[in-house]
Amino acid sequence: MTDMNHTYNARTEIRPKALAGISENLIAQHWALYEGYVRNVNILREKLDALSAKGDFGPEFAELNRRLGFEFNGMALHERYFAVLKADSAPLSEGAELMKQLKKRFGGFDAWKKEFTAMGKMRGVGWVVLYYDPSADVLTNHWITMHEEGNPAGCVPVVTMDVWEHAYILDQGAAGRGNYIEAFFKNVDWAKVERDFKAAAGQSASAAR
Ligand SMILES: [Fe+2]
Repeated sequence: MTDMNHTYNARTEIRPKALAGISENLIAQHWALYEGYVRNVNILREKLDALSAKGDFGPEFAELNRRLGFEFNGMALHERYFAVLKADSAPLSEGAELMKQLKKRFGGFDAWKKEFTAMGKMRGVGWVVLYYDPSADVLTNHWITMHEEGNPAGCVPVVTMDVWEHAYILDQGAAGRGNYIEAFFKNVDWAKVERDFKAAAGQSASAAR
């Protein structure tokens, strides 16, 4: 079956509510930005499909394809960010598979968090993502510039943190990125992160067999 007219929809089921240290107003404004990425992915896809159908592969086709990388990753990264933010989240349990992998790769949760936080404070807008590389069965932190530069191909995002200024400036002010990162950690739904990680690691194990 073909799906030549596929469109994306904002995933309302993942919209966070009643977080600690991240206001409802900020989430509402941030969510509206996310909806803009979804809308633009659909617009770009439609325009690109129309050009492709006409056989027009000139400069407009090239530039819209470049733009698609920004808009698509803007959509996809925000979905992974919102999906793991939940009120009243419990810490990652000592027996979690992810905890074992964090110990193996970083020496422990706190050592990983220290590096992840330091990367989150890097100047400039972007994202910090804890990725799992199924090809090597290893965790790595990556900085993503804007939305489209730095995503490691083939890796699975495990913890995704937005550090664009719109993610915190309304609540924390321009110098408040550190406070925001602490608030982010208070709201990470570690039970979901662990489920996602185990699913990714399980696929890696079955691929290796
Ligand atoms: Fe954002």
